[in-house]
Amino acid sequence: MPTYIRAGEVPPKRHIQFRRPDGGLYAEELLSTRGFESVYSLLYHLRPPTATLDVRPWDRPHIRFSPNDPVRNRHFKTAAIDASGNAIDARTPLLGNDDLVLSLAHATLPMPYFYRNAGCDELFFIHRGTGTIETPFGDLAYRPHDYVLVPTGTPYRLLPNDATTMLVYESSGAIEIPRRYRNDAGQLVEHAPYYERDFRAPILRAPRDEQGEFEIRVAARERSAIYVVQNHPCDLIGWDGYCYPYAFNLDEFAPITGALHQPPPVHQTFEAPGAAFCAFVPRLFDYHPLAVPVPYNHSSVDCDEVLYYVSGNFMSRRGVEEGSITLHAAGAPHGPQPGAVEASLGKTSTDEIAVMVDTFAPLAIAHPAEKTEDKTYYRSWLT
Ligand SMILES: [Fe+2]
Repeated sequence: MPTYIRAGEVPPKRHIQFRRPDGGLYAEELLSTRGFESVYSLLYHLRPPTATLDVRPWDRPHIRFSPNDPVRNRHFKTAAIDASGNAIDARTPLLGNDDLVLSLAHATLPMPYFYRNAGCDELFFIHRGTGTIETPFGDLAYRPHDYVLVPTGTPYRLLPNDATTMLVYESSGAIEIPRRYRNDAGQLVEHAPYYERDFRAPILRAPRDEQGEFEIRVAARERSAIYVVQNHPCDLIGWDGYCYPYAFNLDEFAPITGALHQPPPVHQTFEAPGAAFCAFVPRLFDYHPLAVPVPYNHSSVDCDEVLYYVSGNFMSRRGVEEGSITLHAAGAPHGPQPGAVEASLGKTSTDEIAVMVDTFAPLAIAHPAEKTEDKTYYRSWLT
């Protein structure tokens, strides 16, 4: 919710009679978050979104998670994951805790049904591919290196133009712009690494004036269902508010650099309860004449760090490839591999792109991730 948006036709006041040309009433819907206490939007449908023809069980595969015990640094090569299909069927969980589940999907087919996550905000990172996310708020086109945020409760279909490789972060709390990036009025501050005009909202199309049988698959953490509804979910004449899907491309992220190495919080993109998201993009290195461009050795004693390597030369990291995920576990020291410090000296810039999430509760490893693991990674700091 970078800012207030109004799209299509809305009545002059909320919660008043708003009539169709045939004299009938449009159906107002409030999509609110944290009960009625946080951001919300008001949606105006041709017909009520509540007209439910059937509710059936949705048997989703059970994913087994194992604790990262003995606690150690891990490396997973996600290119080995061969699941494909539509964006939901192809979603493969890799890491998770009660706050966050991180999955990877190779979406090759359009979703024939709508999907609504009623328990989590969903944040996508598009590694490869282009396409459209169809929502009641409108169509949101995506391209490589987009973050796309879909608020909890939003029905959507992902329609790839070409094969789309994407990370999916499901957060049980709201994923938001970091509070420290906002001033008292809610505007992004001058020292934030992005600005309101860098964010893209859905484009509202003409309402889908269709009745029939429309399938919405609903996930709510452990619970799920298949709803069959009578009215097309994208039958909106208008909406307004602060709660809607949006996209942000890493090309728009203005990295903050300095004379000496800057810590990860300067690269932060989003925050959520129990998680912080960061992006590392092409940038100039530190300009002190004796600066060491690669990070120092460190132990994150109170968070697990999960890096996904997108493209470029990952100078401080031995053995990783595009699509690799490293999990640097809380309390396990990590840093540049042998020779990386010396190799970095005198370098003036990097072309690396990587995205990171730090979680403040330990992450467990999903069974599909274990099958892709480079099991020698924790020994990669040996000379
Ligand atoms: Fe780290």
